[in-house]
Amino acid sequence: MDTNTYYTLAWLATVVLLLQSFRLRRSRRNLNSPPGPKPWPIIGNLNLIGSLPHRSIHDLSQKYGEIMQLKFGSYNVVVGSSVEMAKVFLKTQDVNFACRPKTAAGKYTTYNYSDITWSPYGSYWRQARKMCLMELFSAKRLESYEYIRKEETYALLKSIFSSSGAEILLKDLLSTVSLNVISRMVLGKRYLDESVDSVVSPDEFKKMLDELFLLNGVFNIGDSIPWIDFMDLQGYVKRMKTVSRKFDRFLEHVLDEHNARRRAAGEGFVATDMVDLLLQLAEDPELDVKLERHGVKAFTQDLLAGGTESSAVTVEWAISEILKKPEIFQKATEELDRVIGKNRWVQEKDMANLPYIEAIAKETMRLHPVAPMLVPRRAREDCKVAGYDITEGTRVLVSVWTIGRDPNVWDKPEEFCPERFIGKKIDVMGHDFELLPFGAGRRMCPGYSLGYKVIEATLANLLHGFEWKLPGKMNSYELNMEEIFGLSTPKKYPLVIVAEPRLPLDMYHH
Ligand code: HEM
Repeated sequence: MDTNTYYTLAWLATVVLLLQSFRLRRSRRNLNSPPGPKPWPIIGNLNLIGSLPHRSIHDLSQKYGEIMQLKFGSYNVVVGSSVEMAKVFLKTQDVNFACRPKTAAGKYTTYNYSDITWSPYGSYWRQARKMCLMELFSAKRLESYEYIRKEETYALLKSIFSSSGAEILLKDLLSTVSLNVISRMVLGKRYLDESVDSVVSPDEFKKMLDELFLLNGVFNIGDSIPWIDFMDLQGYVKRMKTVSRKFDRFLEHVLDEHNARRRAAGEGFVATDMVDLLLQLAEDPELDVKLERHGVKAFTQDLLAGGTESSAVTVEWAISEILKKPEIFQKATEELDRVIGKNRWVQEKDMANLPYIEAIAKETMRLHPVAPMLVPRRAREDCKVAGYDITEGTRVLVSVWTIGRDPNVWDKPEEFCPERFIGKKIDVMGHDFELLPFGAGRRMCPGYSLGYKVIEATLANLLHGFEWKLPGKMNSYELNMEEIFGLSTPKKYPLVIVAEPRLPLDMYHH
C-alpha cells in the first residue's frame, strides 16, 4: 500500500468514527432518561452517595421520584423505589433485568462469576437455578433437614440458658446457629467445630463470612470508574483476593473429603448433603452446561454465605425492635403461652398458628431488609419503563428500603408495628410487591423458604424461652439502631443483652 492510499484510508476511517460518535451522541441526547441529579464529569453522582448508600439513595428518590437515573462513574444506575416500579423491574420486564453487572466482587470472590449470585443471565445461571429448585431447596429436601434445624435451635436455647443473667452478644450466638445449620445441610457436618484437625476455627470462619458479605455489598470505586480500577484506591480488591484465597483452601479440603467418601462407598453411595449433590451433578453427562470443580466450590460458598448471615442479622434486628416496645413482647408471649403452652418448644409447623410472631418477622423485614436495594441487576437490552428510556447495560436497583417506608403504602411507616400485618394477606414470597425482603422474579432468593423458616422458628423460640432485658440500667431509648452497609446491613453496634428463663427449668435441658 503506497503512502497516499494509507493516508486516504486513515482519513476516511477517522471521518466514519467521528460521524458514528456524533450519531451516537445525538441519539443519546434524544433519549428520554428518567429524572435525576446532574452528573459531574468522571465521578457522575458518586459525590451524593454517603457511607450508608441505601439512605442516600432513599433521600434522592424522595426528590426525583419513583424512578430516577443516577450516574456512578461511567455507568447509568436506575433506581426503582415504588411498588409499581418494583413490579415493572421484577415482574413485567423481569427477563430484561435478570442479569447482574460485572463487579470486582463477582470476579475475585466467586471464581470469576461462577456462583449463582453473580453469574450473568444465561444457560449456566438457568441451570444453577434449576438445581436449586429441583434438588437443593426442594420442599422434600428442606423437610429432610428439619431435624438439623431443630437440634441446632435447642443447642442455642441451652447455651443462652447457661448464660442466664449475664450479658450476651446475641448476634454471635445467632450466627453460630445459622452457621451450624447451614454447614450441616451443605457440608454434611459442622466442619468448623473447635477441634485439632479442623481446617478453620468457627471464629475465623465467621470473620471470613462477614468479610465476604461486606465486600460483596461495598461500593467499590473501580466498579464505576473502570480506568482507575487497577489502583484499588479503597483496598477492597486486595481484601477480596485475600478472603477468596482463605475460602478456597477450606473448600478444596471439603471437596477432597467428599470425593474420598464417595470413592470409598463405591456404587452404593447415597448423597446426603448439598456438596454431595453438587459433585454428583458435576458428573452428570446430561447436564446442558458442564459444572466444573470451581463451579461446585462457588455454589458451595454461595450457599454457606447466603444461609448464615441474613437470618442472624434479621433476628438481631427483631429483638432490638422489641426491646424498644415491651408491649410487643407481652403480646407475643401471650400468643406463645396460649398456642404452645409452657411445656414444649416451638416447631416449624406451629408457625401457621402463630400469626403475631409471623407479623413480627414480617415487620422486621419491612424496616430492616437484609439487602435494602436487593442485589444489583443489569438491563440486557434497551427498553422503556414508565415512558423513560433505559439503555442496555444500565444497572438497576430496587429500593425495597424505600418501599418499606412509603407512606402511600404503609400507615405510620417509621413505627415498628407488627399489628399492621394481622388479618392481611401480605407474604414475603415475592408476590406482594410492598414487601420484598427476598426480591421477586427470576433472580429472587432461591433460599427464601429456608431463610424464612430459620428466622421464624428462632425468633419464636427466643421469645418463648426467655425474657429479654438490656444490661444494667440501660434504657431502651439508649439502644443504638444504626446500621452498617454491606450485603447484609447489620446493626452498627451489636446487641448486648441479658436473658432470663421464662419456662420451667427442665425445658432447657431437653
Ligand atoms: C433471611 C434470609 C435471606 C434473605 C433476606 C435473602 C435475601 C436475598 C435477596 C434480596 C437476594 C437478591 C434477590 C434479587 O436480586 O432480586 C438474594 C439472592 C440470593 N440468595 Fe438469599 N436471602 C436469604 C437467605 C438465603 C439462603 C438461606 C440462601 C442459601 C442457602 C440464599 C442464597 C441466595 C442466592 C444463591 C441468591 C442469588 C440468586 C440469583 O442471583 O439468582 N439466601 N437473597
